[in-house]
Amino acid sequence: MPKVTLVKGDGIGPEIAEAAVFVIDALGLPIEWEERPAGAAAIPEFGAPLPPSTIESIRANRFALKGPLHTPVGGGYKSANVALRQELELFANIRPVRSFEGVETPFRGVDLVVVRENTQGLYSGIEFHTDIRKTSAQAVALITRPASERVIRFAFEHARATQRKKVTLVHKANILKFTSGMFLEIGREIATQYPDIQFEDRIIDAMAMALVMKPQTFELIVTTNLFGDILSDLTAGLVGGLGLAPSANIGEEVGLFEAVHGTAPDIAGKGIANPSALILSGAMMLRRLGHAVEAQRVRKAVQKTLRERKVLTPDLGGSAKTMEYAKAIVANFEA
Ligand code: NAI
Repeated sequence: MPKVTLVKGDGIGPEIAEAAVFVIDALGLPIEWEERPAGAAAIPEFGAPLPPSTIESIRANRFALKGPLHTPVGGGYKSANVALRQELELFANIRPVRSFEGVETPFRGVDLVVVRENTQGLYSGIEFHTDIRKTSAQAVALITRPASERVIRFAFEHARATQRKKVTLVHKANILKFTSGMFLEIGREIATQYPDIQFEDRIIDAMAMALVMKPQTFELIVTTNLFGDILSDLTAGLVGGLGLAPSANIGEEVGLFEAVHGTAPDIAGKGIANPSALILSGAMMLRRLGHAVEAQRVRKAVQKTLRERKVLTPDLGGSAKTMEYAKAIVANFEA
């Protein structure tokens, strides 16, 4: 029986994790959950937001479903999310968005995916004060050729595998000539090996505008860590918000599936979080576990529940609780 590490996380994490497990369990697949702690929830018992036993469990099982994590500021802790992605070499973060019928937004027909480099750039963890009085500080945006080649190649392969015809590389090479410039140069090189896929590049600021004017013209965006972080919240907004945006962190060995959003402290504990993002992340995981039919069943049931507009969480204008919504999804499973 395949085992999946379950990290419920902080804030709304346990609420949406309960909903996602409920939906996946309702498929009747032989999946065994191995629960492990991380984030602020792990600190009282383990003295750190990322206990080694959690990393070991994910390495051994090779698949993990994870709620959002909060890393307390102060206390000297490194971000548990960044540490997870670096330690497990989860080099690519896939963040797909697609317009949902029934979810009102100014845009129709959005269907794109952001592939975010997940381990480097300004998230490399190299940040320090440059004087003893702490009046100035620096952060290093580390970009390496191997990591850039790996994620860009992954993006082209993903485009092919998902029948997307165009890759847009997003950068700031006009200012950041060495870092972003190298990422762009590598993109141009790799693009020549994929003649079946159109390649274009955009500067991040112009891309932000283009995405809110004509999001339908983009199919797959590949970019560095910080730009990908920001643009993927933006693209979530195009289709109805963070409650609907799933993601997959992919490495050579391990896949870790989580919502794009964070711990939502403003609504945590109220049982009203939208679990769709984590449920759809679960569907991405099922596909990679070899259960494509069940993944599609979950996606269709989410789409139907949104389209019907009978049971919706408050972020989408409804008044349903997280678990009521999860039950509506299961009730909408097609035979
Ligand atoms: P956030 O994504 O937690 O919340 C932003 C807004 O979106 C809030 O108004 C929230 O209520 C709403 N929202 C988010 N998810 C929702 C859902 N499922 N249903 C309904 N509404 C939802 O971003 P914020 O406030 O900037 O971050 C809070 C904490 O989360 C921070 O500690 C941050 O570091 C952490 N975080 C963790 C992530 C992860 O574990 N992958 C990703 C992003 C943030």
